[in-house]
Amino acid sequence: MDHKRILVTAALPYANGPIHIGHLAGCFLPADIYVRYQRAQKKDIKFVCGSDEHGVPITIRARKEGTTPQAVVDKFHNMIKESFKDMNISFDIYSRTSNANHHKTAQDFFTKLYNDGVFEEKETEQYYDEEAKAFLADRYIVGTCPVCGNENAYGDQCEKCGSSLSPEQLKNPRSALSNATPVKKKTKHWYFPLNKYEDFLNKWIVDGKKDEWKPNVYGQCKSWLDNGLQPRAMTRDSDWGVPVPLTDAEGKVLYVWFDAPIGYISATKELTPNWADYWQQEDTKLVHFIGKDNIVFHCIIFPSMLKAHGGYVLPDNVPANEFLNIEGDKVSTSRNWAVWVHEYTQDFPDQQDVLRYVLCANAPETKDNDFTWKDFQDRNNSELVAIFGNFVNRAFVLMHKLCGGKVPPLHEDVLDDADKDLIEAIKAAKVSVEHNIEHYKFRDALFEVIDLARKGNKYMQDKEPWKVVKTLEEQPENQKLIDNCLHLCLQLCANLSILVNPFLPDTAQKMLHMMKVVERMLDWENAGKLDLLKVGYPLRAPELLFKKIEDEQVAAQVEKLHANLKENTISKEETTNIAPVKDEISFDDFVKMDLRAATIIHAERVPKTDKLMKIDLDMGFEKRTVVSGIAEHYNAEEIIGKQVTVVANLAPRKMRGIESKGMILMAQDDNGKLIFVSPADKATAGSEVK
Ligand code: MF3
Ligand code: ZN
Repeated sequence: MDHKRILVTAALPYANGPIHIGHLAGCFLPADIYVRYQRAQKKDIKFVCGSDEHGVPITIRARKEGTTPQAVVDKFHNMIKESFKDMNISFDIYSRTSNANHHKTAQDFFTKLYNDGVFEEKETEQYYDEEAKAFLADRYIVGTCPVCGNENAYGDQCEKCGSSLSPEQLKNPRSALSNATPVKKKTKHWYFPLNKYEDFLNKWIVDGKKDEWKPNVYGQCKSWLDNGLQPRAMTRDSDWGVPVPLTDAEGKVLYVWFDAPIGYISATKELTPNWADYWQQEDTKLVHFIGKDNIVFHCIIFPSMLKAHGGYVLPDNVPANEFLNIEGDKVSTSRNWAVWVHEYTQDFPDQQDVLRYVLCANAPETKDNDFTWKDFQDRNNSELVAIFGNFVNRAFVLMHKLCGGKVPPLHEDVLDDADKDLIEAIKAAKVSVEHNIEHYKFRDALFEVIDLARKGNKYMQDKEPWKVVKTLEEQPENQKLIDNCLHLCLQLCANLSILVNPFLPDTAQKMLHMMKVVERMLDWENAGKLDLLKVGYPLRAPELLFKKIEDEQVAAQVEKLHANLKENTISKEETTNIAPVKDEISFDDFVKMDLRAATIIHAERVPKTDKLMKIDLDMGFEKRTVVSGIAEHYNAEEIIGKQVTVVANLAPRKMRGIESKGMILMAQDDNGKLIFVSPADKATAGSEVK
């Protein structure tokens, strides 16, 4: 279909913390590149975003900090907005979901569905925290993941293994507010019957050939559909959120994933009185840029909501990126393992384009990718500085030296194959950059731009105008060769500014200034043209486009990452699940304990128990039996022969009729798995541990 207008959305970031470079790489930067390109194509396009200010993480943060949710979102909304501005993310509007316009839009949407009888009203028993006097849904409840054993899985999702969960599936549930064990209590909610939209979704996604969507996106949709959909509650018991617009809904708000995507609509309404064209005209192309953890909401739930409402367009594409790791480790905001955008812009002022470049060149488009500061430095120094910057700089310097500071003429009569190849390369680059951007392949597109600059460098190197100039005394006609070389190099510079503009807007602006041309030259229709700079036109001296990044700068960043991480491991957030240090004991108390190295010589699971293992130990001076709660984590066979540390003088205890004489020392890993505290090298069985 021919589209008349484009509406681009980028996932509304939660206003419960600043944004990091993973956010940028995941959706905001690709969205911005796409939008800048389409604007240069003179398309009718709007780019909307805003802060997602509801939801549990925000209320939990407010509670922890002893402040209000509104204060939390005010702080981070402004901070995030500033970061986007600093990084030249060119939203047409950056709104927020706590504002009145959004509340009304979301409530009207809900009311329409309610009046059309879409919702199923259900009373169910839900977990309730009697201490905090609150129902516990989503992230208010934590417990052990039934899939991977992570002890800190949330009521809606396990972040370790990615499984989508419901509170009932958690083992050993506890309240995220008070740590209390919750009780069940009755509550009424409104459910959206996703199951009734399976047909619609199958037709739209599977039959509708959405397999041109990225494989990760299509694959996730397919597996949701294949597994069958369930009705989903669209309301929550909470005092923070959009109030449910019904008379019998005191203390209830809309589910954050109901209201947040409607935020795209609210933002468009705020932006333009023609908002309905962008949402309700069939010839609109709607594109949602998101991270991979948002796929189901944008491809299954929100489209079903739009369908139920009626009259809305559905997304044409939902390009979702994977995750960006940092220095080989998953980003973790609680561990503070992240590169924060507001810190980057402080540490590298005026180098936004470098970060944009690296994040795009290394974008997690098809798989998770890694950001390292070394790679950041390498790409800057060997690509931006050595290829792109160097080419532009040499073209301008030589034009001033050899052509009197003006654009030299092109002499058709001496045009050779190298010249013609360069002209072809310029035209071909335009086509492939275009093709790649339109297919959401931003890395490939950017590569083509750099590759064109690389060709420019090679061309200039082969032509050696700085040598040709020395032949002029004997062969004055050689000036034509110099002219042609620099004429083409300068036209190439003009082309590069157009092609690089969606990716590196500051760089494009600097180039415009050097070329003394107006903004309009960056119109995409000018790409591929070879008469962008008029013959005889005087150009400015070159400006430095990129500067080298030094080893010390990179070392400082790596150090900062680690230093911040350490700081955070002793912060409150991180230690909530780690027991505080017990009361001090005297040295005399300590020596009362008899710790010994021992070797496991036999092990078997205690019948009819999940956890218990009967273990026989060689203690050197005797053999003895202990019972240990490790059977969930180990098979008998895999621990035989292992060396362990044993509290040897612990009073014996009977467990399941077996006398246990002593205790094997265990620690825990991140997933809650028990780990043996073993001698690092082979110890003599029975030797004292002290
Ligand atoms: N706040 C969500 C996140 O950061 C994204 C919301 S996208 C929207 O994961 F569609 F709901 F707006
Ligand atoms: Zn899990």
